[in-house]
Amino acid sequence: MIKKGIILSGGMGTRMSPLTKAVNKQLLPIYDKPLIFYPLSILMLAKIKDILIIVNKGQLNQYRKIIPNGDNLGIKITYKEQTYPKGLPDAFILGEKFIGKENVALILGDNFFYGQNLTSQLLNSVKLKKGAKIILHKVNKPELYGVAKINSRNKVTSIKEKPKKFISDLAITGLYFFDNNVVKFAKQLKPSKRNELEIVDLINKYKNNRKLSADLIGRGGAWLDSGSIEDYYKTSAFVSAIENRQGFKIACLEEIALNNKWINKSKIQNAIKFYGNCEYSNYLKML
Ligand code: G1P
Repeated sequence: MIKKGIILSGGMGTRMSPLTKAVNKQLLPIYDKPLIFYPLSILMLAKIKDILIIVNKGQLNQYRKIIPNGDNLGIKITYKEQTYPKGLPDAFILGEKFIGKENVALILGDNFFYGQNLTSQLLNSVKLKKGAKIILHKVNKPELYGVAKINSRNKVTSIKEKPKKFISDLAITGLYFFDNNVVKFAKQLKPSKRNELEIVDLINKYKNNRKLSADLIGRGGAWLDSGSIEDYYKTSAFVSAIENRQGFKIACLEEIALNNKWINKSKIQNAIKFYGNCEYSNYLKML
């Protein structure tokens, strides 16, 4: 059972400058809430209550203003600063103490997931005891991502980071589940040509030991990017369309905490005071 999760929320966001000069990318809005709410909501839907958020050096105060320590959500949030982005597997080196002897999930701070079966898929994934699990989704431009080729039994046969030559259209999304070996494996990695530790190298260690499994998010689910300004607006438009049509909010953290029975209505009252007179608070009032 995976009870711990890491959100890697560092990065310089250079592709979105000047928006990201003063504010971390993950604190910019996706429609009506900061981007960081969305990956955090995914861990919470997976019933993960012990969460480490890795942020850029110097940006901790910004984060604490919006997500203090998790008390308000009935979860535990720990922060760790990263001096400079060294690649995704660095999360497990920085997070070694946090992880301890347990298994761990990793989600990238800019990843957005949505879909009908998502929660049951998440609850199934956190059952992982040994090995690693990756989540795949078909995309139009696989060359922008890590990709995985699978055989007819959904076994991963090869993995490559941003392949120039087509090998598969299944992108490896930024949500991963690992057993405790991940810390040891991360430490064994050498920087790649782009001078970063690569998540695909880490996943390959599991694959080579026949300890890798993969799950697919089908066409009824959405995995959206928020890497560029254009993607940001598209994801915002998606959230806006769904929320305004249904009247339900995507990634309302207090709602998820309440549904999980991690908080009671008095915490919702506090949250309404905290957010002030706004549409998000109006939604909380309806809960
Ligand atoms: C990273 C990973 C890549 C993965 C992607 C998911 O890419 O290296 O394997 O598919 O996240 O968002 P990057 O954001 O560093 O380009």
